[in-house]
Amino acid sequence: MIRTENLSRKFGSERGIFDVNLEVPEGAIYGFVGHNGAGKTTTIKILCGLLKPESGKAWIGDIEVTPSNIPKIKRKIGYMPDITGVYEQMSVWEFMDFYGAAFKIPPAERKKRITEALELANASYMTDYQMTSLSRGMRQKVALAKTIIHNPEVLILDEPAGGLDPNARIEMRQTIANLRTLGKTILLSSHILPELASICDRVGIISKGKLLAQGTVKEISGMINENIKLVVTVDSDAKTAASLLATTEGIGKTEVLDANQITAEYSGSRESLSAVLRNLIMNGVAVRYFDEAEEDLENVYMNIVKDGKK
Ligand SMILES: Nc1ncnc2c1ncn2[C@@H]1O[C@H](COP(=O)(O)OP(=O)(O)OP(=O)(O)O)[C@@H](O)[C@H]1O
Ligand SMILES: [Mg+2]
Repeated sequence: MIRTENLSRKFGSERGIFDVNLEVPEGAIYGFVGHNGAGKTTTIKILCGLLKPESGKAWIGDIEVTPSNIPKIKRKIGYMPDITGVYEQMSVWEFMDFYGAAFKIPPAERKKRITEALELANASYMTDYQMTSLSRGMRQKVALAKTIIHNPEVLILDEPAGGLDPNARIEMRQTIANLRTLGKTILLSSHILPELASICDRVGIISKGKLLAQGTVKEISGMINENIKLVVTVDSDAKTAASLLATTEGIGKTEVLDANQITAEYSGSRESLSAVLRNLIMNGVAVRYFDEAEEDLENVYMNIVKDGKK
């Protein structure tokens, strides 16, 4: 649904974005991750038709992002910028109405859309508030409501959780997950990979203007971790279980974390993991929990970015 081909826009020789090839499937939530200054906003602005690329192409669905297609692109996408502008003296309702009118939504339908959009963004209670009186978190909610007022198929959200407290970040994630269930394709940027991992189907990691990796969180983790990391919790002695595990085919380094917990590296296939578990049980180990460890995403991210700098 969103695709770019060798998208480049340079600011001087080192800054900007260079040959970015994004691919966001329809209905997916795509997390666009990178440090400050990595090139997220630049890429997003090009996708929304707000900045011209120097070279390369971009498509939203089957519409190529070109100056003449901007009106079509604007109807198809909802763009939430990283910084929400300063507002005039308007109530939240008036602000929404203003945007609804800009999209030429007829007044009767506009009312319905405004109500729905505010509800989806958990901002209904602010309807009569003055825009200037809103806190940062409240403003983000209204900005999201504004972004979906014309019922766009694609949402492009630049740091939607930026500046929000932990609770508000969770709420924003939930709202975004809800929007996906309405069939929207969503690209959102962040500089925190672990935060995105819980709601994203795919992630793209950008550093110094280059897209270093793109895929599912599992695929990206697999790029740096060839071995599967296992976590095993036992009700019997962990040391005995670890020694037994160490003699199992495919098991590399094992580590006893505490009286009940072991981690182990495994170089075999996922399909043969059941044999590892069976071996433990057959040898009298009381296994309570046996699974792949959650990836340490911060670690994954730092490794990919570090490799990209070589
Ligand atoms: N108009 C501009 N003129 C000059 N340099 C620019 C311009 N816009 C962006 N850049 C540079 O391009 C690079 C990428 O900036 P961009 O805003 O895309 O980063 P970002 O990933 O969105 O960062 P952040 O997390 O801070 O929002 C930076 O080095 C930035 O200084
Ligand atoms: Mg930015």
